[in-house]
Amino acid sequence: KKLIIINGPNLNILGKREPKIYGSLTFTEFLEEVKQKYSTIQIDYFQSNIEGELISKLQDADALYDGIILNAAAYTHTSVGIGDAVKAIETPVVEVHISNTFDREEFRHVSYVSPNANGVILGFGLQSYELAIQSFMN
Ligand code: DQA
Repeated sequence: KKLIIINGPNLNILGKREPKIYGSLTFTEFLEEVKQKYSTIQIDYFQSNIEGELISKLQDADALYDGIILNAAAYTHTSVGIGDAVKAIETPVVEVHISNTFDREEFRHVSYVSPNANGVILGFGLQSYELAIQSFMN
């Protein structure tokens, strides 16, 4: 199995960013642990703070992977373009969020990704990513 995790803006500063909400582990540290734990699966990683780069990556990842795990971060709530890209591609996309976005500000209750995703996992901290990986394991 080949999966790719695509992370959106500000997820490159995980660990030092609002640790009460997002935890104190960096994504690099977390990814190392996850890759060891699920060593039979190829897990690639891409992060960008730029909306268009995320759209291009979604397009390029199509057909190359068995699954895409997408945390579009703040663009989740604003980006018609990312929503359209998820809709346009064949590869199943699981949307993840670290925090429970429904327990936060109202503007985080909207997602342009969800209507086009195969599933949504949120609110379990970094474990949300692990649950998404497991969803592709059957
Ligand atoms: C997030 C939730 C978003 O609302 C926020 O903008 C993020 C991270 C999460 O993983 O909890 O940057 O996607």
